[in-house]
Amino acid sequence: MSNSVQCIFENDAIVTANLSTKQYVENQKGLVCSLLVDGTHYMIIKKVDKQTTEMVRSVAGDVSRTLQGQKVKNATIDAIQLGEHFKNLSNEAVITAFTEGWELGAYQFTKYKSNEEPFKTALTYKNAETFEKAIQTGTIRAEATSFSRDLMNELSSTLNPETYPEVLREQFAHTTVQVKVLGKEKLEELEMNGVLTVGRGSKYKPSFVELVYEGDPSKPLVALVGKGVTFDTGGISLKSGRDLSDMRMDMGGSAAVAGAISLLAQSKAQVNVVALIPIVENAPDNTSVYPGEIITYKNGKTVQIGNTDAEGRLILADGLIRAGEYQAEYIVDIATLTGAIGNALGTELGGVFGDEALAYELKKLGDENGDFVWPMPLVDDYDSSLNSDYADMNNMSSLSMAGSITAALFLRRFVPENSKWLHVDMAGVMEKNKACGYYAKSATGYGARLLADFTTSVSK
Ligand code: BES
Ligand code: MN
Ligand code: ZN
Repeated sequence: MSNSVQCIFENDAIVTANLSTKQYVENQKGLVCSLLVDGTHYMIIKKVDKQTTEMVRSVAGDVSRTLQGQKVKNATIDAIQLGEHFKNLSNEAVITAFTEGWELGAYQFTKYKSNEEPFKTALTYKNAETFEKAIQTGTIRAEATSFSRDLMNELSSTLNPETYPEVLREQFAHTTVQVKVLGKEKLEELEMNGVLTVGRGSKYKPSFVELVYEGDPSKPLVALVGKGVTFDTGGISLKSGRDLSDMRMDMGGSAAVAGAISLLAQSKAQVNVVALIPIVENAPDNTSVYPGEIITYKNGKTVQIGNTDAEGRLILADGLIRAGEYQAEYIVDIATLTGAIGNALGTELGGVFGDEALAYELKKLGDENGDFVWPMPLVDDYDSSLNSDYADMNNMSSLSMAGSITAALFLRRFVPENSKWLHVDMAGVMEKNKACGYYAKSATGYGARLLADFTTSVSK
């Protein structure tokens, strides 16, 4: 295969000059196709009907992954032609999106493949002298999302409540992000009883990590709370049946908030943000929490555990209480919280609950940045389904429906009074089951861009 490829567009003279070439390209399925003319290898980017930044990322991802598969070393594209192809979008937005899609399309998690070296086709722009910033932005966004993907793909034996804090320490070592690691003793002192209880059955001690980034301390404080369950077996209410190996990705919320902090710090964003990350493994053992037990939280609320598999909300409750201690003005929690959100929305978009106006703002940001969300209702009438005969509430609803809504209603009970709050359920979008666009067949890295853009947006 050739070592260098030129990316051109369907309306290029190289394609249109020859009728049979033109027809060949037109008849190819997909957004892009390969073409060999007079010994030169071209990638043809076809006409698109949707002029969106997501389309740009997808096209770039498809080209980049295809060329990677063909072991092509270098590719070039003309920035001006690229801008013209997506003329409804600004040139900067197109270059950023193309760069981001290119990098993410080449993403691979090859750590455990004995005979695969990571390989990427290098992209060079022509006529891009004025687009340096746009290229850099795309690179930063892809790096942050790849970091989230790496965390999610990693095995639970490697990334667990004891090692995860160290991984975060390393990631942020030479940055302006402060990493505060709270170990088990500190959790006891701070009465993080949800984390301590859920983590009880695991051979790994639970932990809680705080990532502080003060790009501009005068800005409203945004707290990003991410569920960090490094493996969810269900605990004593053991999961059964299907392949559970994906439950190592039950720390997807924590990967999203860590990725968001990385994105913000790398882009020197003028924001004031803290990520709050409760980390546990939900394991069955004779030391595990048993169904029926009651947790008393620091704020005095008591929760009976109806089902140890509804563990995410139990640890997020500590995160929300902690956000209150920080007096955060905005709180966004994100979690692979319920299978039910996948039933409702499928694999293409997450669900967002909470402050309605903010939820629609978040949807708009997601429509732009590719982390799609759809606003969901907090139905007050369902709230009483969380009542318990023995405690203030149960961690499981008595309803057999609306599982994502009742989970969100549970969280709402822990939201500090003076904070504006959103909850993102990303259980449906944590992974792709086939490679497509700029996604590999693995973890998506969902949420890093979404939460970074949200933080920037409320800090204007
Ligand atoms: N981590 C799961 C949710 C999940 C399911 C994430 C599928 C990704 C894919 C969560 O902890 C869980 O087990 N939720 C239960 C809640 C139920 C017991 C109330 C669920 O969704 O079934
Ligand atoms: Mn669970
Ligand atoms: Zn879980």
